[in-house]
Amino acid sequence: MPLLDALGRPLEALRISVTDRCNLRCTYCMPRSAFANHAFLAPSRLLTFDEIEHLARIFISLGVRKIRLTGGEPLLRPGIVDLIRQLAPLPVELALSTNALLLRGQAAALREAGLQRLNISLDAIENEVFGVMNGLGVSTENVLAGIDEALARGFSLKLNMVVQRGVNEAQVLPMARHFAARKIPLRFIEFMDVGNNNRWDRAQVFSGADALEVLRGDFDLVPVAGPASETERRFRCTRTGAQFGFVNSVTAPFCRDCNRLRLSADGKLFTCLFARTGHDLGGLVRTGTVEEKIAAVIRAVWTGREDRYSELRATVPATESKVEMSYIGG
Ligand code: GTP
Ligand code: 5AD
Ligand code: SF4
Ligand code: SF4
Repeated sequence: MPLLDALGRPLEALRISVTDRCNLRCTYCMPRSAFANHAFLAPSRLLTFDEIEHLARIFISLGVRKIRLTGGEPLLRPGIVDLIRQLAPLPVELALSTNALLLRGQAAALREAGLQRLNISLDAIENEVFGVMNGLGVSTENVLAGIDEALARGFSLKLNMVVQRGVNEAQVLPMARHFAARKIPLRFIEFMDVGNNNRWDRAQVFSGADALEVLRGDFDLVPVAGPASETERRFRCTRTGAQFGFVNSVTAPFCRDCNRLRLSADGKLFTCLFARTGHDLGGLVRTGTVEEKIAAVIRAVWTGREDRYSELRATVPATESKVEMSYIGG
């Protein structure tokens, strides 16, 4: 019997952030100016791999069947391959979201450790635009090489592209052509008001409907029946078989199907991407709390959960106190 929250949603997925650090400074996530003097978590505060595994087992006993490792940039966490080796035998679908800058040279090790699924963020195929989006002028070279390597190693891949009006919408079609040719599903993500620093403006949201309109110039798209995941709607080109996904969290919120919890790198449990505070599971683990007690805390957090921020966005006053996405785990 699945564990249901206050709105009847089952607990099924857990996103674990393994670091709050990143080697990019995407303007919509970690704008350079805001993060120049940011106090990142000290390494001693990060959950250890044994602590992560311990918690993962408890979550699985409560019904979790999907675990996604995120960050920050998870490939920056020293020993990430060892963590994957430790989690891979658990009865759960294991995936990782990455900007792929460090994937080159590592894809084989990640695959051998037992990882099968990768979601890769890339917001432009043209270096100039990508450099602006990533805040550091970094080129696509290593990302594209990492993608090739991951394909060669048999990874199942999805590409994530955040589209921001006035910045990278002209890249929608070039990105679509590039990844359609490689048979990798590309997902268009609406620019969201996460954190407190990205100067979110509704007028800069390039909606999934806008992206679909652009694609229709090149592709004959029909909806794919059934959800591809809790977050996206899928379309398929009838001529080429290319697939595109739309994560329309601003224009078509999916809170009703939200089955996920988020664990920050220092062990705080968050019930929503837009939450303001977390529950300190790391503290419980470190003080030797017995498994049953930790499970009871998680159960209480989930059964009391009423979050549906994206559905309420228009009515929630903007405050300065949301957690940052790089901390809580995309
Ligand atoms: P799949 O299971 O492969 O579909 O992954 P995912 O979409 O859950 O994860 P991914 O890390 O690829 O995230 C894609 C985009 O969806 C990112 O912009 C996420 O921030 C966003 N996203 C993921 N989960 C949620 C969520 O619960 N709420 C909102 N509002 N956005 C989310
Ligand atoms: N809006 C939408 N998506 C975002 N991501 C990070 N910040 C935002 C934002 N403000 C995305 C990344 C990555 C995923 C894990 O989260 O691009 O694909
Ligand atoms: Fe780093 Fe991903 Fe945030 Fe970009 S979106 S700054 S790659 S964590
Ligand atoms: Fe879930 Fe919060 Fe995202 Fe809604 S806004 S889908 S409740 S994480």
